[in-house]
Amino acid sequence: MSLLEGRGITKSFGGLAALAGVDFAVREGEIVGLIGPNGAGKTTLINAITGVHRADRGTLAFDGHELTRLPPERIARLGIARTFQIPQPFHTLSVLQNVMVGVVFGRRGTPMKAAAAEARAVLDFVGLGDKASLEPQSLTIVELRRLELARAIGSGARLLLLDEIHAGLTPRELEDAIAMIGKLRERGITILMVEHLMRIIMRVCERIIVLDFGKNIAEGAPAEIARNPDVIRAYLGGQPAIQGASDAGG
Ligand SMILES: Nc1ncnc2c1ncn2[C@@H]1O[C@H](COP(=O)(O)OP(=O)(O)O)[C@@H](O)[C@H]1O
Ligand SMILES: [Mg+2]
Repeated sequence: MSLLEGRGITKSFGGLAALAGVDFAVREGEIVGLIGPNGAGKTTLINAITGVHRADRGTLAFDGHELTRLPPERIARLGIARTFQIPQPFHTLSVLQNVMVGVVFGRRGTPMKAAAAEARAVLDFVGLGDKASLEPQSLTIVELRRLELARAIGSGARLLLLDEIHAGLTPRELEDAIAMIGKLRERGITILMVEHLMRIIMRVCERIIVLDFGKNIAEGAPAEIARNPDVIRAYLGGQPAIQGASDAGG
């Protein structure tokens, strides 16, 4: 059974259809990649799921709850956490406190001491343990993305929506990130990840959904997607996206 299912999701901005009837489903425990050229509608889909933007048409069900009319706070409380493509930390709070906000939001009634301990554990998990007392403004962009991830994990969500959190990583950091996703998978967390880096998509996702101009153009296992003519065509003249798929096996 699907944990999250969208049918006919449509969202226009002015005359532009950012999403033109997208259908998708994510099963519990699955790690699904959401890819497509720039402007394909990937972030808009995450915004529609999380209630940041209300879909014009379509239905979105999460664990039996219809999301399309719920405000973002209620959707988050159902157990959906996201990261933002442009990190949005609370600048006046420390790194630790930023994660504590996620913990306390997601697990209401957690005593502060327990929330701090949980936040520390999550910071260690994402490799930010030694930055806990810093302010977000002293973090690099890569560290800020990890902070976003830590806040999302800290909330205890069942479903994580990750929007290009791996951009700009060194090969070593990429390996760490792949290991981290493996551990999230072991915890039974379901992930829908927008990602341009084919290396990581090919290694961690069991299924890939491809959007182009706000429509599904393909869906399948990584190896199928890498040789899908429609997908290759969508990327031609666009970004280098699908290259790197061939060396992703190792
Ligand atoms: N808030 C917005 N206002 C106007 N247009 C938007 C807004 N958000 C996205 N769009 C447009 O919708 C299309 C899809 O954008 P987006 O979902 O960000 O693409 P992706 O994440 O796949 O690169 C783009 O043409 C973008 O310019
Ligand atoms: Mg985007």
